[in-house]
Amino acid sequence: MRILVVYYSLTAHTLKMARAVVKGVERVDGVEPVLRRVRELEMMQEKIDKSENLKRIQEEQRDIPECTLDDLREADGIIFGSPTRYGNMTAQMKALFDSTAQLWLKGELEGKPAGVFTSTASSHGGQETTLFTMMAPIIHLGMIVVGVPYSVKELLHTEGRGGTPYGPSTIAGPQGELEPAPEDLRIAEALGERVAKVTLRLRGSGKRE
Ligand SMILES: Cc1cc2nc3c(=O)[nH]c(=O)nc-3n(C[C@H](O)[C@H](O)[C@H](O)COP(=O)(O)O)c2cc1C
Repeated sequence: MRILVVYYSLTAHTLKMARAVVKGVERVDGVEPVLRRVRELEMMQEKIDKSENLKRIQEEQRDIPECTLDDLREADGIIFGSPTRYGNMTAQMKALFDSTAQLWLKGELEGKPAGVFTSTASSHGGQETTLFTMMAPIIHLGMIVVGVPYSVKELLHTEGRGGTPYGPSTIAGPQGELEPAPEDLRIAEALGERVAKVTLRLRGSGKRE
């Protein structure tokens, strides 16, 4: 069983969450995590090239392959991570979804468990809206949305950090100066583990749901 963790990240917060999701997947015997990044847009490259910080972060991700349609096709479960852009997913992640028409036509993603995670600059900058809007194409593609249950104890909190039942999240800060809280990372691990377990239950028999 392959669990694809596919993310976009400009300043590395979503990347750190993606690595935590992978850690959670790794806890489950019989599944293999596959980490992939979403292709950068040409219009962003000029901005990245002008910033030593952004160039360094892009370089750090060089060894992570770009996600292809075959990666989506071959995955048994998929977890998508995108920072927010005005309360919605990034154009980079949307471009990946928009490239899946041939998979949709053949129903190739149908029945695959899927989860979502995000990062925002501020506490109320659109974590839930980003997670929900990512779920729309997931549902159109016939995947089965998996959230985070409240038995994950870090979820029930009132302090300024991430963590929602719709998916893990973190707060990057207005200048990207914050690190994901340990609780944010544990919730991300919990989602990875849960999607892996649900995938095994649904698809482990070799039968397609
Ligand atoms: C065009 C643009 C729009 C953004 N919109 C929001 C927003 O609506 N709410 C918010 O909290 N942060 C917003 N941000 C901040 C990013 O979400 C934040 O930098 C990101 O979560 C960091 O994730 P990363 O380190 O993985 O790139 C925006 C950033 C950009 C560039």
